[in-house]
Order: sequence, then C-alpha cells, then structure tokens
Amino acid sequence: MPKIGNIELPDFPLLLAPMEDVSDPPFRALCKEQGADVVYTEFISSEGLIRDAAKSVIKLDIYEKERPVGIQIFGAELDSMLQAVDIVEKSNPDIIDINFGCPVKKVVCKNAGAGILRDIPLMVKLTEEIVKRTKLPVTVKTRLGWDANSIKIVEAAERLQDVGTQAISIHGRTRVQMYKGEADWKPIAEVKNNPRMHIPVFGNGDVDTPEAAVRMRDEYGLDGAMIGRASIGYPWFFKEVKHYFKTGTHLPPPTMEERVEAARRHLQMSIDWKGEKLGVFETRRHYTNYFKGIPHFKEYRMKMVTSDESADVFAAFDEVLEKFGDFQFA
Ligand SMILES: Cc1cc2nc3c(=O)[nH]c(=O)nc-3n(C[C@H](O)[C@H](O)[C@H](O)COP(=O)(O)O)c2cc1C
Repeated sequence: MPKIGNIELPDFPLLLAPMEDVSDPPFRALCKEQGADVVYTEFISSEGLIRDAAKSVIKLDIYEKERPVGIQIFGAELDSMLQAVDIVEKSNPDIIDINFGCPVKKVVCKNAGAGILRDIPLMVKLTEEIVKRTKLPVTVKTRLGWDANSIKIVEAAERLQDVGTQAISIHGRTRVQMYKGEADWKPIAEVKNNPRMHIPVFGNGDVDTPEAAVRMRDEYGLDGAMIGRASIGYPWFFKEVKHYFKTGTHLPPPTMEERVEAARRHLQMSIDWKGEKLGVFETRRHYTNYFKGIPHFKEYRMKMVTSDESADVFAAFDEVLEKFGDFQFA
C-alpha cells in the first residue's frame, strides 16, 4: 500500500488535484465524503503568504474532516518559500506540496510553477531545502517537462526523491502543451519503472472515467490517480471510480435529490466559510456540472448563477427539485 511519509493510503488511492478557485474547503470536504483519499488546496503564493496578503492567507484554512490534506505552495525564491513553509505549518496540514507544474505566464515567467522545469537543479535545491525545513512530508506536483524536446522527468523525479520528496504527482503534459492534446502517461510509467524509485508515483491528466483510472493502474502501473476536472461539480466521481474498481460495474448516476442536496450543502458550507457574498459568488462555477444534461434548464441555471442573495439560490434549488425531481440522468 502506498504511503506519503507516515500517512497510510489504500491501494491505488484517488487524490483530489489542487485547483485554483475550485479546491476550497467546502469542495474538498464534499470530495472527501465521496471517497477522495487525499485532498490538496489550490496553489498559494509564497510571496503572498509572507506579505500576509489576506487572499493568500484565507487559503490556508482546513477542516478537520477533510484530512489528510496537503497545502500547496508555489514560488521560486528559496527564502520566501522557506518562510512560507513556516507559515503553512501553523495551519497544521498533513502534507506540504510544492507546485512545479503551473503553466500560466505570470507564474512561469518568475521561474515558479512549471517555469522551474527549465532549471532542474534549482527545482531539486528548493525541494531539498523545504524538506529540511519541515517535519511534514513534502510532495511535489509537476509536469513531464518544459516542452517535448526537454522531457527529463525520470531524472528529475529520482533527484527529487533523493532529497526527501515523499511522493510525486505528474501531469502527463508539458508546460508548452498547457491543457491541449491528450495527457501522455507513458513518461509517468517510465518514472515508476525506474528501479531506483521507491516513493509513490501518482498519475494525473485526463482521468475522466472509471475505465481511465483502471488503465492508469493496470496498464501503466502507477500508484494512484490525481483527479482534477472530472470532479468539478461532480464529487461523486471518486465513489464511482472506487465502485468500478471493486465490482467492474458502473454506479447509477446521482439522483436529482442527491445533486440538489450536494449543491445546497456546498453553498451553505461556502457561506459559512467565506461569508454570504463570496460564498454565493464562488460556488457558481459548480452548478453547471451538478445539473448537466437536464433539458430546458437554462432559466434555472441563470437564477443560480446570477442571484446575489443565497436565499434566491436556495429557492432555485427547491424549484429544480420540484420541477425535475423525476429526471433520469444518463
Ligand atoms: C480550474 C483549474 C485550476 C487549477 N489550479 C491548479 C493549482 O492551483 N495547482 C496545481 O498544481 N494545478 C492546478 N491545476 C491543474 C490540475 O491540478 C491538474 O493537473 C490538471 O487539471 C490535469 O488533471 P485533470 O485532467 O484531471 O483535470 C488546475 C486545473 C484547473 C482546471
């Protein structure tokens, strides 16, 4: 069974990917309830944390019920990252994760995120110092390489392991690919097949059906799957994959009642956590997926995503249940 430091995980664990503006405590809690074995926060700027920027600091909040949880940080300056580690530790997460995979320009141009894939020695050095700074297990999330001509992930992963990284999650795309094309899991399998590797190697990218998760496990031999987009507005994905692993059959999709209940709880937790205004605003992105596939739904979706008062959104949920309660999801 894979372990991250002393954290024991089940066979082929499912990890909720860090996702900006998505992987907040309410969403992580819902995914955990539905079977996610490890959850990660969205990336948090080390520079923001040390400046005590409210926007970064609020991202450190975790609920007890979501453990084990990893807090993900990004940066490229050693000193800032070490100070950020000290701040992160005070929130008492189970894991500290380093983001070496974010492809967006404003991050990579400072050499942070996937930018560091152009400088593997710096990547290894930062990791080594962070590992020395904290007693918590440190994990790394990265991509295959900067571009197709510079894929050195086998060597990089081994060096990261040698400086004390406890697990590595690899998104099967290069930085240049951003989110285009299909994720390539072959180079991730090469990392796993390196006889010197002994830490868990988790695959990431395009695990969007239970069958894909089975392929990642059985054909590519990886230690677990990190799941991002397939879970947005669909926390049931974790349960569906686990059910498929156990039985080889598909669970029926969640009923309308279950979807409305999840949307309600999601909104309520968000309001409790962030306050009425932000809670209402930031839960909007999830509704489309919660209610995907219902014909003539636009009127109700619009109410959910344009109402500024939670009472109106809750009322829209009630209406949906009344009107579409018997809808059969495919
Ligand atoms: C909306 C969104 C936000 C993301 N934010 C982060 C982030 O904060 N940190 C990170 O390491 N990756 C981030 N990612 C990348 C995902 O963690 C993951 O690597 C990617 O989506 C591929 O996995 P998937 O195909 O399962 O979605 C983000 C992806 C999406 C779609």
